[in-house]
Amino acid sequence: MTRMDRKVAMILTFLAGPALGQDEVRVASPNGRNEVIVGLQEGRLHYSVKRDGRAIVLPSLLGFEFSGAPRLRDSLRIVGRRLGRTVDATWTQPWGEVARVRDHHNELRISVEEIAGLRRQFDVAFRVFNDGLGFRYEFPEQPNLRDFAIAEELTQFSMADDARAWWIASNRPRLDRSEMLYSSSPVSLLDSVQTPLTMETRDGRTFVVIHEANLVDYARMNLRAVRMENRTLHANLAPLADGIKVRGRTPFVTPWRTIQLADRAGDLVPAVLGLNLNPPNALPSTDWIKPMKYVGIWWGMHINTMTWSSGPKHGATTENTKRYIDFAAANGLGGVLVEGWNTGWDGDWIANRNAFSFTQPYPDYDLKGLAAYAKQKGVKLIAHNETSGGIANYERQLDSAFALYRSLGIDAIKSGYVTDTVDGGHSHYSQFAVRHHRKVIETAAKYGIMLDVHEPIHDTGERRTYPNMMTREGARGQEYNAWGSDGGNPPEHETILFFTRLIAGPMDFTPGVFDILIERGTGRPRRAEEPRIRTTLAKQLALYVTLYSPLQMAADLPENYEKQPAFQFIRDVAVDWDTTRVVHGKIGDYVVVARKARNSPEWFIGAMTDEEARTFEVPLSFLPAGRSYVAEVYADGPRAHWLDNPLPVTISRQAVTSATRLRIAMAPGGGQAIRLRPSR
Ligand code: NOJ
Ligand code: CA
Repeated sequence: MTRMDRKVAMILTFLAGPALGQDEVRVASPNGRNEVIVGLQEGRLHYSVKRDGRAIVLPSLLGFEFSGAPRLRDSLRIVGRRLGRTVDATWTQPWGEVARVRDHHNELRISVEEIAGLRRQFDVAFRVFNDGLGFRYEFPEQPNLRDFAIAEELTQFSMADDARAWWIASNRPRLDRSEMLYSSSPVSLLDSVQTPLTMETRDGRTFVVIHEANLVDYARMNLRAVRMENRTLHANLAPLADGIKVRGRTPFVTPWRTIQLADRAGDLVPAVLGLNLNPPNALPSTDWIKPMKYVGIWWGMHINTMTWSSGPKHGATTENTKRYIDFAAANGLGGVLVEGWNTGWDGDWIANRNAFSFTQPYPDYDLKGLAAYAKQKGVKLIAHNETSGGIANYERQLDSAFALYRSLGIDAIKSGYVTDTVDGGHSHYSQFAVRHHRKVIETAAKYGIMLDVHEPIHDTGERRTYPNMMTREGARGQEYNAWGSDGGNPPEHETILFFTRLIAGPMDFTPGVFDILIERGTGRPRRAEEPRIRTTLAKQLALYVTLYSPLQMAADLPENYEKQPAFQFIRDVAVDWDTTRVVHGKIGDYVVVARKARNSPEWFIGAMTDEEARTFEVPLSFLPAGRSYVAEVYADGPRAHWLDNPLPVTISRQAVTSATRLRIAMAPGGGQAIRLRPSR
């Protein structure tokens, strides 16, 4: 033993708790079911994960490939290990899928150093919860690792089981977005995929979701599989224009890599693991942040009855906007989104990213007058900021635009990033773009503005620190039912989204289209092979409960809600939840979820199915015992079918108590929406 080795050995003895073996360190979740084992083999650091003693993740390597510096992975030794105290704290969300969140975990910190050469050091911090784990790299400031350029993060996820994964590709067909249909296949057949990546082991015993948390100044993580290695997924960071993944300077921490674990698909929701790995709220006050329902000058553009650009079909006119404001006010909806109000849409708006003004309205849009009109009606305008990926153009105007909106009482924005690569040729998901989004979130918070981001970077729990970061799209939403020839979203789509995209966070899916056959756009019902909605009308209602979003749109044209008794459900449904319980759920097949409204005794149930008709029993045991409730039920009507009879909805009322078992019958492609209110 050299003197240095003796010193290290002493430190190790000093730090080693009872659970520390010779070359392996273990840390378990508070309930003991999940266990992380960290070890060193031939100078390489690896971790593995077990649940109930069963391998979930096999030994997987940790490390970095740098540009301009040697790889940091292959000749390490452990110089410190520390088991932290058990943390058990409960915190309250200002709004959310659930009000109270318990952060209960055990922490382990491993410090490693290169045996020779540059002797660079880093720590890996692990937090193990009952619902999964997170780990991240932490680089202290050090002479031989100051400014750095990461060529790739070498983190692996070596899956023990050839689990079935639900995935969207990260390398094709569109680099810029997450707007694809999900496929499912065994892990061994994956190529390059996005996270959250949801998997079910072949025996159906365990559900696993790989994702990330607290992405602040780094590149978004995708996953890449190498065929010959079978089931090992590698971190695959989104590149800057020059191919570098991340530039930084020590001290530095990476985002958390998260592995959520559950026994049932339904137990994955509500997903709070990522929230627990984000810093607490940073805003002095969150009173102004209010979930709401909204309508918008929007669907008309997608079905070609209106345009964003100026001209005879311009949607964002003063008169049209007043109509939407009146409609929102009359129906208790909080906001009116207006797209195409600002100059820059004429010509090819995707290519002309620098033409957008975020303060200058079109001449037929009286911004100030409309803001005053909305205010007088108790409604908020929601400003639309499409950037087409023109980051510099947007950032140049951020302060003046947000100051203007604030002065007009506009406290919510929907932004958009329709483009392949953002300014400078950087990936849509690069560190450059991550920094931009963070800047927008912080600037918006400063001006008291809530955000709904389309073509976003995936949600990594930012809303805990910045609760004004409300919702985003980031998946194939309803708009795909209006366009193109690929048939739109199939009936199973939303039952996959619930367990994949929405595990990351809220989604602005834009539900509630009643004109299922889009007759307004075409003047005739669309044929089966044409783009149209591929759900029943009752399922459109169910989406308000199943697909969580604190800004929830009634997406159709106001005229399509007229004389529609089913619209009452959209008026009534809550947008902020105290409790969420998945009663039944199978990925890609069906979801039945019950949620209790925040600050209200009301509960709502949303049920949705894929192309198969299904029936479920739902015990209302979650209702307070001894209290009578009325169930207002919006069910698929007689012979309803998404394909050729999507419209019939049967609305009924029934007295219920906590002892009632409701029977929920859904048509093919159908759903059911239920409001449970105390009887008067
Ligand atoms: C795509 C978005 O998903 C959609 O909601 C928006 O209307 C257009 N971009 C224009 O910004
Ligand atoms: Ca989109």
